[in-house]
Amino acid sequence: MKKSNLLFSAVLAFLMLTGCSNKNENNNEAAVANAVSFDEVLATRRSVRSYDATKTISEAEVRELLIATQEAPSWANQQPSKYYVAMSPEKVEAVSNLVGERNKQNIAGAPVLIVSTYEKGKSGFFRGEQTNEVGDGWGAYDNGLSNAYFILKARSKGFDSLIMGMRDSDALRELFNIPENEAIMAVISLGYRSGEPRQPEHRPLDEVVQFF
Ligand SMILES: Cc1cc2nc3c(=O)[nH]c(=O)nc-3n(C[C@H](O)[C@H](O)[C@H](O)COP(=O)(O)O)c2cc1C
Repeated sequence: MKKSNLLFSAVLAFLMLTGCSNKNENNNEAAVANAVSFDEVLATRRSVRSYDATKTISEAEVRELLIATQEAPSWANQQPSKYYVAMSPEKVEAVSNLVGERNKQNIAGAPVLIVSTYEKGKSGFFRGEQTNEVGDGWGAYDNGLSNAYFILKARSKGFDSLIMGMRDSDALRELFNIPENEAIMAVISLGYRSGEPRQPEHRPLDEVVQFF
């Protein structure tokens, strides 16, 4: 290679490298500026019972939240949790009819409703035998952990949610063709809050904790 070409290539490589690193720095700065601290996520995550019906959520955004649930621990890594995501207006409407009248009113305008289940006989079992007295309760435990990751990740991305234990599980099973080996747990609404949610009271820590 000629000396001049070599010099040109070196200058070009330098410009490309410094250009890239500046771009990365800018991206990182933007990410840091937008980042919400974990404590802020915990403090601002509330059960939201009033949604902004003008805002929508994409499948890609929901997927990002579901990917976060895959980081949740589970019994022997059984990962028993499953999710049925209603996003079409028809399916959202159908699910909202199965959570009771009060919940239905509270989640009006939430663009996404998700049914959470867990596969029975996995968490808490070893070679088909129940490991201890909790039995399939460990599946519910894992499902709750998975849901927690979901709602916290949702909050960190600016979304709001409501976990609903009041729901018609038989009708949901039929609606989504959910197999009998799955226990149907919560329906979770996902959307954007309209107005500030109410702040729940928390029991004094020393009422629920004992140090030894
Ligand atoms: C398993 C479970 C079931 C719940 N079911 C309902 C429900 O059907 N309707 C409702 O409005 N809130 C429901 N909630 C929300 C609780 O009422 C709420 O989490 C609690 O009051 C604390 O408020 P916070 O979530 O804002 O901290 C449920 C929460 C959990 C974890």
